[in-house]
Amino acid sequence: MTTVTASAPGKFVVLGEHAVVYGKPAIALAMDMRFTMRASFGKEFKVNGAPANNYNLSPHMRYLSEKHGNDPLSIFIEERVPSGSGLGSSAALSAAYSAAVRALKKLPTDPESIAREAYEAEFLAQGRGSPMDTSASVNGGGIGLNIPYSNEDFLWRIEKNTHAWDISKVKVPKMTFVIGNTGIRAPTGPLVEKVRKYKDSNTFAASIVEEIGEVTLEGMDAMKRDDRVRLGSLMTADHKLLSILGVSCPQLNKLVECSLPYSYGAKLTGSGGGGCMIALTDHPEKVARAIKLHGGTPYIVNTDVEGVKVHVDNNGKK
Ligand code: MEV
Repeated sequence: MTTVTASAPGKFVVLGEHAVVYGKPAIALAMDMRFTMRASFGKEFKVNGAPANNYNLSPHMRYLSEKHGNDPLSIFIEERVPSGSGLGSSAALSAAYSAAVRALKKLPTDPESIAREAYEAEFLAQGRGSPMDTSASVNGGGIGLNIPYSNEDFLWRIEKNTHAWDISKVKVPKMTFVIGNTGIRAPTGPLVEKVRKYKDSNTFAASIVEEIGEVTLEGMDAMKRDDRVRLGSLMTADHKLLSILGVSCPQLNKLVECSLPYSYGAKLTGSGGGGCMIALTDHPEKVARAIKLHGGTPYIVNTDVEGVKVHVDNNGKK
């Protein structure tokens, strides 16, 4: 029997969330929390030994499974990225699941095919959004969307409705980030919709989206120069812009504020409304302690991680 093990990392956004949905630039880094699963063909659809149903089969899995002919699979989920916390859990799941089904069906498992398919799953499940999370999870390392890039760094271009994203690799100097999780679950779809409504009905909100794009491009330059002071101050500025768009919350603001005395800068990461913040710092232990003292769960992140991985075990047979 063929068993496939597939895994893909979560991510955090350094700059540009929400504005990226409208084709503005963004920078995201994959990190060392992974979604890992084992899959094989089975007699009936099962997740962790239980028959698949609406509780254990996410819309992403349902879309990918239907797309590939609904063959019954037996899936064991071995690791997860915390969900609803802005860390790209559904993108990691979609990337790993797409890789696993494709490998079982002997279809190409090149990163671009997986990135496109995982984005379709994510878009359908959420009804909106950019290919940032799925591309970061598939490629690993650091990625930029609609930032200037050289030919050798270009990964793929994804288009959806009226928007297009050129996705490229970003070289990230050695920098330390600390994540603070508020523990408040906040699914992405409704927050993206909230910003869309605000932006479409208010020219001031639309100008904030433009400004986030400008801050992100400046942040990219600062990152290239390894200028942490500038990058940090742009992250904090981005947090303020995101707050104006209505996607921060008191707990996120508290964790950002308590990190700032020990950081170059801090901001919410992902869709906001709860979930996580990040701080760029040379004092990760101090930031982690402050986050804990203020009710959050800290995590000192390793970046520069591999993207989607897939391993096929044919039980010794070729
Ligand atoms: C979520 O991690 C990031 C958002 O920009 C949504 C998206 O890009 O799909 C809020």
